[in-house]
Amino acid sequence: MLLPKKKIFFIIISLGILLIWSAVSQGNFVRADGLTPTPTIDRLAKPTLPANPDMADRGSQDYWLYCSPCHGDKAQGLTDDFRKQYPVEDQYCWNSGCHGKRPYPNGWTIPRYVPPLVGETALKRFANGAVLEEYIQRKMPFQIPGQLKEAEYWRLTGFLLKQNGYWDGVGELNEITAASIIISENGMLSLLPTSTIGYSTNTPQAQVTPLNQGNNSVVDPSSANSTRVIALGILLLIAIAVPIGIKLAKNW
Ligand code: HEC
Repeated sequence: MLLPKKKIFFIIISLGILLIWSAVSQGNFVRADGLTPTPTIDRLAKPTLPANPDMADRGSQDYWLYCSPCHGDKAQGLTDDFRKQYPVEDQYCWNSGCHGKRPYPNGWTIPRYVPPLVGETALKRFANGAVLEEYIQRKMPFQIPGQLKEAEYWRLTGFLLKQNGYWDGVGELNEITAASIIISENGMLSLLPTSTIGYSTNTPQAQVTPLNQGNNSVVDPSSANSTRVIALGILLLIAIAVPIGIKLAKNW
């Protein structure tokens, strides 16, 4: 009876390894007919740039890095659907220990509602592009307001204006050109009576570390997926191999 048991053991181990391998390769198999199957779109992946990117296109990458963790991959806001793109342990943003009531020493709490930045109702508080830029510069990213560079804030403004159809992306945005891009007739014309914007001279890289390395930070959303998949494979292998191993060791 020794041989069949050993055989079963090896078959199961091979199965486990196969599972890990298939999980790690994330379905990128090359089929016999030479065609690769359509990959699942990774909604947390960094956006790619067109050949001749305009200011708004470049802003899409700033948005992805600094804003999408809260405002969503499509700027739809922090919706339930968007949170499901995160690893399970990161899906409950308002939990204690995450960004809930009792944050870490340097932690910060996140409001229940993070508004959409694209769509019918979005950005209507702002009269024009210049006020929008002023708001973003003063208030965002929420946990480190004012910490990005001036050029980044303008690219972000360009991205949001273009996404909402207020701007065609031609030329450069600045305080004068952006003021002529009307968002909402009823929107506010300025955040403060005297608006003296002082841009940060800090390098944001020093302030912003990915979420999985610290807790006071913006997430690099693409790193989350592959780690989850590999962990799943390893768990599967352990779950299969350990009980079988113990059983066989006892019987041998
Ligand atoms: C940590 C989460 C978080 C991050 C990161 C973040 N925001 Fe926000 N954002 C919020 C919250 C919460 C509000 C609502 C604040 C309020 O109403 O006072 C908000 C509000 C806004 C608004 C106002 C929307 C409106 O219609 O009132 C804009 C514009 C905005 N954010 C842009 C950005 C941009 C651009 C970035 C990236 C540089 C960014 N946010 C990063 C959480 C975040």
